[in-house]
Amino acid sequence: MIVTDLAKIELHLHLEGAAPPAFIRGLAAEKSVNLSGVFDDNGNYKFNDFWEFLKVYEAATAVLQTPQDFYRLTRAVLEESAANGVIYSEMFLSPDFCGGRDLSAWRDYLAAIRSAADDAEAADGIVTRGIVTAVRHEGPDASKETARCATETADDWLTGFGLGGDEAVLSQADFSWAFDAAREAGLRLTTHAGEWGGPESVRDALDHLRVERIGHGVRAIEDPALIDRLAEDGVVLEVCPGSNIALGLYPNFRSHPIDRLRRAGVKCTVSTDDPPFFHTTMRNEYDRLNNAFEWDESEFLTLNKIALDAAFCDDNTRAKLAKRLEPTP
Ligand code: ADE
Ligand code: ZN
Repeated sequence: MIVTDLAKIELHLHLEGAAPPAFIRGLAAEKSVNLSGVFDDNGNYKFNDFWEFLKVYEAATAVLQTPQDFYRLTRAVLEESAANGVIYSEMFLSPDFCGGRDLSAWRDYLAAIRSAADDAEAADGIVTRGIVTAVRHEGPDASKETARCATETADDWLTGFGLGGDEAVLSQADFSWAFDAAREAGLRLTTHAGEWGGPESVRDALDHLRVERIGHGVRAIEDPALIDRLAEDGVVLEVCPGSNIALGLYPNFRSHPIDRLRRAGVKCTVSTDDPPFFHTTMRNEYDRLNNAFEWDESEFLTLNKIALDAAFCDDNTRAKLAKRLEPTP
């Protein structure tokens, strides 16, 4: 079995960040939205660093204006995921981009996204869950509104709450109110940390937000005591190697810390983050990891089992997916 053909569990995918450039251009033409500066001469998203990436990301989302737009986006994204062998995908959803954190608008957007997710499952067998995500640089007050959207719509599909955005502003602790509210509503928790923030941002996430998973978290590699803590506490990292390399955090796969973290006993999973932005796919991530570290089929199977164990879904769904992970002889 070629490792790229294995069934895959993906835990870290931003819905808007997974929008193919051609899809965004098509909507822009339909709606006469000017997207100058968003694409390069080859039609790819154009940015030079993380902060430009966030700007381009938000500019591109300006064409996503209605629940129907999000229905179409979700179908396009999940079709691509399924084509990459993904059988389970957790998507970060942002009420900020779905009606500006207004609860009633959010309900309509969420219904459209769910309907698309149901249709994708019927068409391609891909199972999904949603994680409502606050945008860090919008600040703590906005995160309270986002948390309200999450707590009011939490159910067996909308199962998680998280935080993304610019790690250079504010601190994890500033968002503790939103995370406490989400926890009380039964939502499971993850936050971006240890990507642009150092190891201390991972500690802050564990201490102040009490999350069970960390988005990225790779800079824990700089702090041996933190590596031990992650390993002992079984904290799961949603590692996105291609994203880190595309944004210049590490020069190449060989120097990416995922292999060292795994060897140190830290539970690592693999995801794409914002695949078209970073010119990657799940197949590409597996191929590059296989080349860089000689991970074989059994290592990828272990990786996927870790991801499935950490998935924010019910145990019945987990058990069904576990059967689909086993390679067919
Ligand atoms: N939003 C989308 N992708 C992100 C990333 N890699 N880090 C932080 N926020 C994001
Ligand atoms: Zn991310």
